[in-house]
Amino acid sequence: MIPIARPQMGEEEKELVWSALSSGALAQGARVRELEERFATFIGAPHAIATSSGTTALHLALLGLGIGPGDEVVTVPFTFIASATSILFTGARPTFVDVEPRTFDMDPDRVEAAITPSTRAIMPISLYGQPADMEAIEGIAERFGLAIVEDAAQSHGAAISDRRSGTWGTGAFSFYPTKNMTTGEGGMITTADGAYADRVRLLREHGMKVRYHHDVLGYNFRMTDIHASIGLAQLAKLPDYNRRRRENAARYDRELRGVITPAVRAGVTHVYHQYTLRVNRRDEFVERLAQRGVGTGVYYPIPVHRQAPLIAAGYGDQRFPVSELLAEQVVSIPVHPSLSDDELASVIEAVNETAEELGPLLVDTTVEA
Ligand SMILES: Cc1ncc(COP(=O)(O)O)c(C=O)c1O
Repeated sequence: MIPIARPQMGEEEKELVWSALSSGALAQGARVRELEERFATFIGAPHAIATSSGTTALHLALLGLGIGPGDEVVTVPFTFIASATSILFTGARPTFVDVEPRTFDMDPDRVEAAITPSTRAIMPISLYGQPADMEAIEGIAERFGLAIVEDAAQSHGAAISDRRSGTWGTGAFSFYPTKNMTTGEGGMITTADGAYADRVRLLREHGMKVRYHHDVLGYNFRMTDIHASIGLAQLAKLPDYNRRRRENAARYDRELRGVITPAVRAGVTHVYHQYTLRVNRRDEFVERLAQRGVGTGVYYPIPVHRQAPLIAAGYGDQRFPVSELLAEQVVSIPVHPSLSDDELASVIEAVNETAEELGPLLVDTTVEA
């Protein structure tokens, strides 16, 4: 079976991890600082703050803005649940707006109507590796005096023109194993605001600048030097990984038939964390691809407002037709950098044969949502 993800660990990762283990410095230390510096340079952000996961990066990013009870953050329901739960963790409430059906990202035209006097921030998700329409969102944020927290968990190295994901307001990245680069578990906050970076660092470490002197209620959201060691090796390979993902996607764009392939907005560098199709009769599609040896993934089968914790928080009756339709139609095929030419050809053959078998019911183009 060609898997939907295949994290690649080489000698570089092993050597750096082994040297971290041998040094005895295991918790947050020099390796974490080095990863922060290199990641900041790569993204083009003046500051980067490493965290224990993408979820804690989002949570901390919001805490650093002082967001809490009584506040609202505008985000989308077509995402991984951590986007919304990170808002709930602070005591604030997410306000959901629907996504745009071709790019899967936040529809900026819907944002303004969702803003109330309690709104403090907008959290677009750069889903599957395509930056959200950050320029439009930045315009709205500036007009209403709102902060931006970009959930860049899936968009390391993605860009609009030559400006990378993570450089509009605050960026929050994940280094989970299936991501474009990994540290095992880990995350990163990026920002241009030095005072904000200091506040976030303080909250990350028990509210402590001087050892055992705690200035504010803080957390332990630190990354370890062991994880940062993996990250340093991975970051060096990220440009090549992303290039291969983009080449694989370009081949799919050219050769796939009978399915809706992902749309990319003009001027955007998509880094294809996922290559996501839209199909009808998804269960049959997935089953037939599996029979042909091709693994798939569905990100995500249930929109966030329909998940139990959000239903409990009172969102269950809200309707987001585009997100709900996409949750039924999306299916991702392997696009990761370790795919061989033969594997790519097998995926293309499997998709095209399946599309032909399932025929016109495969794609209902009348439903643009
Ligand atoms: C869009 C999105 N947001 C947030 C997260 C949370 O990241 P993590 O799993 O590193 O906590 C992920 C990754 O799983 C994600 O894909």
